[in-house]
Amino acid sequence: MSTTAPWWRSAVIYQVYIRSFADGNGDGVGDIAGLRSRLPYLKSLGVDALWINPWYKSPMADGGYDVADFREIDPLFGTVAEAEQLIEEAHGHGLRVIPDIVPNHTSDQHAWFRAALAARPGSPERERYVFRPGRGPDGTQPPNNWVSVFGGPAWTRLPDGDWYLHLFAPEQPDLNWQHPEVREEFESILRFWFSRGVDGFRIDVAHGLIKDPALPDLPPGPHARHPHWDRDEVHDIFRTWRRLAAEFDGDRAFVAEAWTDTPERLAAYVREDGLHTAFNFDFLMASWDSKDLRTVIDDSLTLLSTVDAPATWVLSNHDVMRHASRYGRKKVTRWSPTEPYRPEGVLDPALGTRRARAAALLMLALPGGAYVYQGEELGLPEVEDLPESVLQDPIWERSGHTDRGRDGCRVPLPWSGRSAPYGFSPDNASAAPWLPQPADWSERTAQAQTGDKASMLELYRTALNLRRDHPALGDSTLTWLDSPEGVLVFSRTPGFTCVVNLSGEPYPLPEHTSVLVSSGPVQDGLLAPDHAAWLAR
Ligand code: NOJ
Repeated sequence: MSTTAPWWRSAVIYQVYIRSFADGNGDGVGDIAGLRSRLPYLKSLGVDALWINPWYKSPMADGGYDVADFREIDPLFGTVAEAEQLIEEAHGHGLRVIPDIVPNHTSDQHAWFRAALAARPGSPERERYVFRPGRGPDGTQPPNNWVSVFGGPAWTRLPDGDWYLHLFAPEQPDLNWQHPEVREEFESILRFWFSRGVDGFRIDVAHGLIKDPALPDLPPGPHARHPHWDRDEVHDIFRTWRRLAAEFDGDRAFVAEAWTDTPERLAAYVREDGLHTAFNFDFLMASWDSKDLRTVIDDSLTLLSTVDAPATWVLSNHDVMRHASRYGRKKVTRWSPTEPYRPEGVLDPALGTRRARAAALLMLALPGGAYVYQGEELGLPEVEDLPESVLQDPIWERSGHTDRGRDGCRVPLPWSGRSAPYGFSPDNASAAPWLPQPADWSERTAQAQTGDKASMLELYRTALNLRRDHPALGDSTLTWLDSPEGVLVFSRTPGFTCVVNLSGEPYPLPEHTSVLVSSGPVQDGLLAPDHAAWLAR
């Protein structure tokens, strides 16, 4: 790998879901103070950067994705001064910092939306959002048939009769990106944080900013152009953002959360004059199946290379069931993002852990960058039995209690000790963690796993640190080697081979000089089913 390639082409980025990472002030919610205290842990883990979920001032109707002020840190998490200290300290540890930016919508408590509510229908204050009169003789029908991602109609009616659009919760009104003030405001927000030292941004719902101005009904069945997702005009915005990032020194970079129908459409986000990288959700959605995974890997690499963008790989995040639990079923369902993930069959935790270990070695050996979602390095499972009374994700209410939502992957991390809060909060904490932690997590704490060679944490540490130093890993290409059905084998130059055995039979390791790391013991040169190994050649 060229040493002059920008960092974002090969970085491993650790996702900090801040409210569940580490609680510094004892109020049961993770915060900047907690994160600062754990920077040495992240440094020793061997990651390159941190993506921090929204930390801005917010009424928290959607875990902070409802932002009331993009230039303030929510008091739950800290202050702007603390954020600046965090950025400086992270940089001191060689870790870059990428906050989330949420440009598709604001909170209903944002000054602009409050001004819009106080103004009359048709007023300039309402033009920064998407307000429309209703349909039907007395306007009681929503302006069109769009539905909210969280369930129910995408429109809410105000007492004055006007309706406003929210592709997510009603507390998250969509901004009107045809309005110049919206564009200027976000450019100013980006500058505000870039000048405080952030290394880039993760762009929430990057594919949703532009709506068809005619707001047509969503037609039934397949349609050529979606009226509000992945519209071509969105790339104009990101061309400007790329130029803006380049005004600052030090390779600032964007990563798009963009859901597209095809890898071709995704590649359009990461052209040379567009964003730097985008999440590749196809990898996360794939089942535990060698053909499925290989197709996703090949399609992603082929298409991204046409625009000279690096691939990114991700197995879990704060929106989907943790992969140790997805993979812990005999049959791993392919996930479709328009539906909640519904696992089939009984959880076999040992199977899930085995596959999660193998998946980590696969992901970290692929060309490009990778994302590690906090807790996956501890092998955390989804908490599938949270009592209904504690569920906080708006999806639970909006779905009429048919979809439990995403709280199960957001449970606060276990750091140390034998019982909750497992070091998540300090000893003298005034409140319990905001979601209850399972009683059987004492063996999963970072402390319990540290130094245990067989633990998930030490597997991640070993692999991440090897990846850092190995000249074959990171950006560049791979070559598939012949292998029987169910086994993935690829080499990377110089001198590296990765083997993943998804078949039901032990597989004899191909030629090698040493085993760099394996997800389980290799006996008589055989790699057991659901295991992976990195080999030196
Ligand atoms: C995607 C984020 O990842 C998710 O957590 C959030 O609910 C929606 N965007 C809305 O902002």
